[in-house]
Amino acid sequence: MQTPNRYMRDYTTLTLRLGFASFAAALLTQAGAASTPATADRLMLSQARFSTGDDMAWRAPDFDDSGWKVLNTTQYYQTQGFEGYNGYSWYRIHVVIPSSFKSSTDWPERLRIYLSAIDDADESYLNGVRIGKTGSMPSDPHGYESRWEAPRDYAVDLRTGIVRWDRDNVIAVRVYDGAGGGGFYKDMPYLTMPQRVDGLQLDAGQARHHFLADGRVQTTLNVRNNFPVVQRGVLQTEVRDVAKGRVLQSGARSITIAPEKSLALHWTWPTRLGIQVRYRFVDAISGRVATATHDLPYRLTPPDAPTPTLHGARLLGARPGTPLHYRIAATGRAPLHFSAQSLPQGLTLNADSGVISGTTPNAGSYDVQLRVRNALGDATRVWTLVAGEQLALTPPMGWNSWNAYGLNVSDALVRNAAQVLIDKGLAAKGWNSINIDDGWEAPARSANGEIVGNARFPDMTALGNFLHDRGLRFGIYSSPGATTCGGYLGSLGHELQDAASYARWGVDYLKYDLCSYAANMSKPPTLEEHQRPYHLMGEALHKQARSIVFSLCQYGEQQVWTWGASVGGSVWRMTGDISDNWISVQETGFAQAPHTRFVAPGRWNDPDMLVVGQLGWGDALRPSRLTPDEQYSHISLWSLLAAPLLLGNDLPSLDEFTLSLLTNHEVIDINQDALGMGAQRKLNQDDWQVWVKELEGGAKAVGVFNMSSRFRSTQIQSGLFGRDGQFQLRDAWRQKDLGVKSKNITVNVPGHGAMLLVVK
Ligand code: GLA
Repeated sequence: MQTPNRYMRDYTTLTLRLGFASFAAALLTQAGAASTPATADRLMLSQARFSTGDDMAWRAPDFDDSGWKVLNTTQYYQTQGFEGYNGYSWYRIHVVIPSSFKSSTDWPERLRIYLSAIDDADESYLNGVRIGKTGSMPSDPHGYESRWEAPRDYAVDLRTGIVRWDRDNVIAVRVYDGAGGGGFYKDMPYLTMPQRVDGLQLDAGQARHHFLADGRVQTTLNVRNNFPVVQRGVLQTEVRDVAKGRVLQSGARSITIAPEKSLALHWTWPTRLGIQVRYRFVDAISGRVATATHDLPYRLTPPDAPTPTLHGARLLGARPGTPLHYRIAATGRAPLHFSAQSLPQGLTLNADSGVISGTTPNAGSYDVQLRVRNALGDATRVWTLVAGEQLALTPPMGWNSWNAYGLNVSDALVRNAAQVLIDKGLAAKGWNSINIDDGWEAPARSANGEIVGNARFPDMTALGNFLHDRGLRFGIYSSPGATTCGGYLGSLGHELQDAASYARWGVDYLKYDLCSYAANMSKPPTLEEHQRPYHLMGEALHKQARSIVFSLCQYGEQQVWTWGASVGGSVWRMTGDISDNWISVQETGFAQAPHTRFVAPGRWNDPDMLVVGQLGWGDALRPSRLTPDEQYSHISLWSLLAAPLLLGNDLPSLDEFTLSLLTNHEVIDINQDALGMGAQRKLNQDDWQVWVKELEGGAKAVGVFNMSSRFRSTQIQSGLFGRDGQFQLRDAWRQKDLGVKSKNITVNVPGHGAMLLVVK
């Protein structure tokens, strides 16, 4: 299900902190003909025998697979001699499990079989007995469902006698790959014997936080017992101020959790930058421990004023004579009333909703005086409508379905996201696009060759109307290839017809994802081959009587930032897919330094969508794995880069911290600044980075990033942002003036955190 460039990508693996006791026994292992390295506490499964095709007889432990090829288990099979193969295949992992394994644990009832992740779906057997299944196969009653991201963490009940101790065991894995890379691709699979305490899950990353009026935060932590035995022990907590290196408070409570049940525990903690909580559970019987740590979220964005205030981009580009839908971004105590002076003919404003709609006037620049008022006062600002061929004059802002719902997106989820965008106050800060990613397409075109929505998208026009009525923009996704990355129908050979369908449905934004088109190019592809499909679709979109923003997704191949605009693009992806960890943020956002000078209005480098809030890529939703400080850095950097701001999270479950992170209008203003400059990296030294973005009117936004994992302070020379005399400094996150400064400024920044300043 992965994009072709992912074959080449080095995957970041998440470290599992499991704290197993080590055992001394030498572990004899084998996989096929080769041996498997063992660590003190795990049997690593580095290799497997592999065959394409599908035969249920291959699950049997004694099947003779000696003629099968030996592959390693951390790379797609396509990179190991099976290039271009999609469909069914089997892996067979041979492993001798020593009986001494049993004495390594205080609870020898389970064997944990960790099979990492498998692209796209698997069904796994131990010695012929099924032990687990993730995703589903085309031959299953409900058809194919990709679960390429999901961890395969299976447990085997040893009391069933399924393990052949001290002899060869076979883990047979039946795989179905829908498209792109296939099979094992991530971290190395292994076997282990859990301790009783390993059944206790202190999922600090899943904790929920509610900010109290007194400035503290109430944390709810679910402690889960995954095993069929009671867990009893003491849960110790320690709250630390990381900046000062001090323990602020500590506590302990006795807990008992029934088999396979959970317990919700509540605490109230202080909330400010640099507060960390450590949990330590001590098992009453064995004395073994389970630990977890999390950095507490803290809100920097001040609450909105009750008086009316206008927000969002000051510019909008649209093609003359095309339909226009625009929602004025404004906050203030409800009800708000909107009015506009010098609104061009053909456009009308709904005074209650603030939605402007109608037809874009003739080419030209139109200054409109927007006004919002409520019982407490009013506010005005000039908003400029530029009727012409240039779209996306400021970076697109909105939401995309992929990072939350993956291929399970539906009309209902999309409508709900749109409504929440409005109800929770995000649209009031300028978040105004709702983009459907992969997974909306029906398996076959209609009789006349038209692309149609699948059963989850019964009426695209109705969906478009729903969004436009609310002043939101409607985005969609396709591939120039025969199929998309998710194996759905692409636009190959139907480019003009698809562009016409999108226009009919009211689409305002198309993300066009290379994926299977790679098969239509030579190896290595030429620049012309890369440009051809984008040029074709760019022209097709231009033929439509709509303003459709064209977003190129080919992962930054062939320096797309130098030619994306020439094929009609306004946005282009710069890298492979982002994921919610710090290394990925470095490989996407922080890797942009050499390319930011190519950024300009209507020419946006896209380091991929945001990974804050509840994410899942179609699997169970869970909070972003970035720490709060990493999230401040992520949003600060994307603002400085003038990157498209596309939320990737489940909006209905938006939490208070994430909401505060996404509704800071001073931070958003840096991103949406009308000059359209990308920040330049002015310093990259001693794990400090300083990025400077020129703003309209001569001000500068300055991001100071602490790339180390420790809380540190440093002095920033004002020469870095071109000031030698006195200057005014403002903290954008806190929306607070820091006074008049000269020369150097001192900053204190948490590990992986950022300061975002505006210099005037
Ligand atoms: C690729 C893209 C992602 C997403 C998926 C959909 O991986 O890079 O952003 O669109 O395809 O299948």
